[in-house]
This record gives sequence, structure tokens and C-alpha cells, in this order.
Amino acid sequence: MVYQVYPRSFRDASGDGVGDLAGVLERLDYLSETLGIDAIWLSPFYPSPMADFGYDVADYTDVDPLFGDLADFDALVAAAHARGLKIIVDYVPSHTSDRHAWFRASRSSRDNPYHDWYVWRDPQPDGSPPNNWAATFGGSAWEWDATTGQFYLHSYLPEQADLNWRNPAVRGAMFDVLRFWLDRGVDGFRMDALGRIMKDPLLTDNPPNPRPAGDFHKEMGDYDRQLHINDQRHEDIHAVLREMRHVLDAYEARDGQARIAIGEIHIYDLSELGRYYGGNHGGALDELHLPFNFGLLKTAWSARAIRAHVDAYEAALPSGAWPNYVLGNHDEARIASRVGPDGARLAMLLLLTLRGTPTLYYGDELALEDVPVPPERAQDPWGLRVPGLNLGRDPERAPMPWANIPNAGFCPPDVQPWLPITPDLARANVASQLDDPASMLTLTRRLLSLRRGSPALARGSYRSVDWPGVSDDCYLFLREAGDERLLVALNHSDPPQPIPLPDGLRARPILSTHLDRNGTGPLTELALRPSEGLILHLDGDS
Ligand code: GLC
Repeated sequence: MVYQVYPRSFRDASGDGVGDLAGVLERLDYLSETLGIDAIWLSPFYPSPMADFGYDVADYTDVDPLFGDLADFDALVAAAHARGLKIIVDYVPSHTSDRHAWFRASRSSRDNPYHDWYVWRDPQPDGSPPNNWAATFGGSAWEWDATTGQFYLHSYLPEQADLNWRNPAVRGAMFDVLRFWLDRGVDGFRMDALGRIMKDPLLTDNPPNPRPAGDFHKEMGDYDRQLHINDQRHEDIHAVLREMRHVLDAYEARDGQARIAIGEIHIYDLSELGRYYGGNHGGALDELHLPFNFGLLKTAWSARAIRAHVDAYEAALPSGAWPNYVLGNHDEARIASRVGPDGARLAMLLLLTLRGTPTLYYGDELALEDVPVPPERAQDPWGLRVPGLNLGRDPERAPMPWANIPNAGFCPPDVQPWLPITPDLARANVASQLDDPASMLTLTRRLLSLRRGSPALARGSYRSVDWPGVSDDCYLFLREAGDERLLVALNHSDPPQPIPLPDGLRARPILSTHLDRNGTGPLTELALRPSEGLILHLDGDS
């Protein structure tokens, strides 16, 4: 069970309005005792000019003073490990900040040994960029550089220059970055924008997109006008991922502890996604342990659609591959805003009962909603550069609300937090929800603890079921391990839904999204209330 901490927004121990590593350390008891997650994924805390809030790294092997220093990081790892929590750090391989020493050297002249560490090309004869590739964050993916008289490639902001992973020196240096953090004790990496590390070596134009909108889970404007088949995920990526995995596996070989590789690759074609686990040469799964599955972000919020996604994903996974699900992160509108408060409870029950590793985004355990950010406080470059499409990611990055007090206990009361505090603070805060037996936080804690103690939920098999008389507004699936047989039943509709149990089966409710079925005895007749999700223990032989 992975929990994503966006360090800027979790807890500000230094009192400057921006969260930091010491703040995460202060809240470890919340993560390990109150919630009971297994691993923390920390978004970037490296030295950075913050053009993309840390995803523009100026030094891969240090801590930005805003977040603390390496001693703070070491203290955090030690304290997390003492509690049995794993630490996963963000690894940003596709690009560096334009202020990184490598890029400064690279742009200093065409003859500099670092020049080829990035992707440089001459202009076309008419002076235009080398090809038509569009940057995710708007405009051309090429930036003119007067000193060298060439363009450099940037798949995101001009301040994020793409590294040339075809250069063996770059690969060597970036593998050393992995080793630097592994030697400091990290348990794995969430690898950012991973598909970008291998592009078409001939830099062929992207073809136009015949469909009006993109192939993504959200509209991205001009970026959607082309098919991004040449500017990412070139087939050669698989060999590089095997090399990366090799670096991690060498550490596992020493002490038997796996170091995990989680990849951020937005792929909605499930058989292609499956190939990122590896095994492409007929052997063992030798690439990513978990290529992030963002499928649920693109799936309509209905029982039919969700079931279809999960069933198709389960069927597409290569043998031995472990599934995973994501419902939110620092790039997406919050789940509670996407599906509403009742939907958020159903979503949490779904996420924590499906087979595979769930990734929880900080604040989702409170059903925190997107926080409105007035235009004068907008920060995210994506929203500022591509206006009108709601692409700004500030609303989902607002401070974690710890208590119903000024500045939510995120930072001192007399300091302006870097983003506004939720206007829903009276409801959405940790302290109040801890005291409320019906809160979203209570539900999340119950689910996490149930999952921890249940072999069926933690590691058991998954099978969706069709029972006669059950509406397809309900999604039913079984999780089974040994003699533990659980039914998960989710009602996505407003009317109550009867769930006729097959003859011979008795069901004992264990946990409802409504948190009020505790202690109910075995049932032979079952009905789900509006937007209710229910976990039941099954007995009998049907
Ligand atoms: C990934 C990150 C996102 C960042 C982008 C560029 O998509 O999740 O936050 O802006 O890569 O690094």
C-alpha cells in the first residue's frame, strides 16, 4: 500500500509556508500507526529552480534547501525504516533543469563533451525547428539556443531539457543516481515520465491525430492534435529498462530485499502496458515491477465500465505480473471532486480491495476536494501556459489539512502557505475525522487494516461475478485465498439494489462504506443502499 507525499504540501516544519522533509518526519506516526500504509513515495525534493515544482532537477544527488538537507533525508529514512515503512523516491530520468551543470556545459558549445548529453539539432533550412513534435506543456518541443545555433529538445517546459539516453555516458550517470539513493537506503523509485527516455532516433515527425481529442485521459489542447508515436516509447526503451532493473536487482542480490521500480507511463492499451513488466524475450519479468496503471482515470464512473477495465487489465497482465491501481496523484483532479463525496468512499473501497498495489494520494483519505485557487495565486506552469482547459494542477496540490485551526496545522498561522487551504476545512481535516466514527478517514483506516490482516485481500485471487438478478449498476467480485472467501459488492447507482445470493451461500458483512453494518450476522438476503460498497465474508458451497 503506497501513499504519495507531495513534500511541498504535506507539513511545513520550517515555517516558511512550504512543506519539507522534517515535516514528513513529524508525521510518520500518522502514516505508520494511524493509517498503516507500507511505503511512502516522495515527489521530488532535489535542488531545483522549481519551474515545474521540482520535476526540473538541477542536482540529482542533493536536497533543495527549501526541503532540508541530506541529513534530514537520512533521518527520515532511518525513522521510516524503524517503523517498517519503505521509502520510494521520485527519479526524473527524462529531463534535467536547464540550470543543471550538465546542461550548462552542454549548451556552452557544440564541442563541449556534454553537448551530446542532450538532444540537439540544427534548424531546418528555413530556420524552423527540426520536427513537428509538440511539448506536453504547450508549444513546440524545441527551443532555440543562440550560443550553439541549434535547437534543444524539451518534452515539457523549455526549462526541462531532455537528456539523450542513447548516449552511454548519460545512461551511466543516471544509473549512478539510482545507486546514490540506493546506497542511502531507499527501497525503490517512482520513475517520472519514463516513456520519454527513448524516442525515434531519426526524429521523425509525429503524424496528425485523426480523432478530435487525444488518446489520453484528459484533453490537452494542441498537444492532442498529433499522435505521439515518435516522441516517446521507442521500442529500444525495453533494453534500457532491463539495464535499470539490473541496477536495482544487484542490491536485492546482496540482502534479499527487492528495490522496486514503479514507472510513470501513460499507456491505455493494456497489452502494451503489460510489456513494461518485461519478459519480452520469453524470460522472467525483468523490467518494471509496477508500470503505473492509470486506466481508472480514463474509465467512466460506472459499475459496467470499471468492471470492464479491471477484467481486461487482469486478462492482459503477463503471467506473474502484479497489478496496481491509481485513482489520483499530483497531476490529476482529486477523486472526491471527480466523483463526489459518496463516490469517493466507493472509490476508496474499490482501490483497497482490488488485487494489486494501490497508490493513495495524500488527502484522499479525507475525501479532500480540489481547492479553488484564485488566478493571482496560480502557480502551475501547465495551467498558465495552456489556459482554458483546466490543466492547472494547483487545486490537487493544496496543503494537507491536519486540524481545523488557522492554516490547517500545515504551517504557522502567521505565514501564507504556498497554496490556499481548503475552504472545506471544518470537514476535511485529520483531527476532526479521527474523532468521527463515520468519517472517510475512519473508513480508510478500517480498509487498510482489513487489507493488512486479510490474505484474500492482500494477495488472493480476483474474479468478477455475474449472479442472476443483480443489476449491472452493481460491480461484484470475489477475492479468495485458502479458505477465506470475500465478496466485494459496489452499488454505483442511486436506487437501492437487491443482491440475490445464489442458493446455499450465506454472507456476513464485514465493512460497508457507510460504516454501520458492524456486527451484522450472516445474511441470506442482501440489498445495497445507494452508493454503498460492501465487503462480505462468504460461507457455503455455491
Ligand atoms: C510527470 C510528473 C509531472 C511533471 C512531468 C514532467 O508527468 O508527474 O508532475 O510535470 O512528469 O516532469
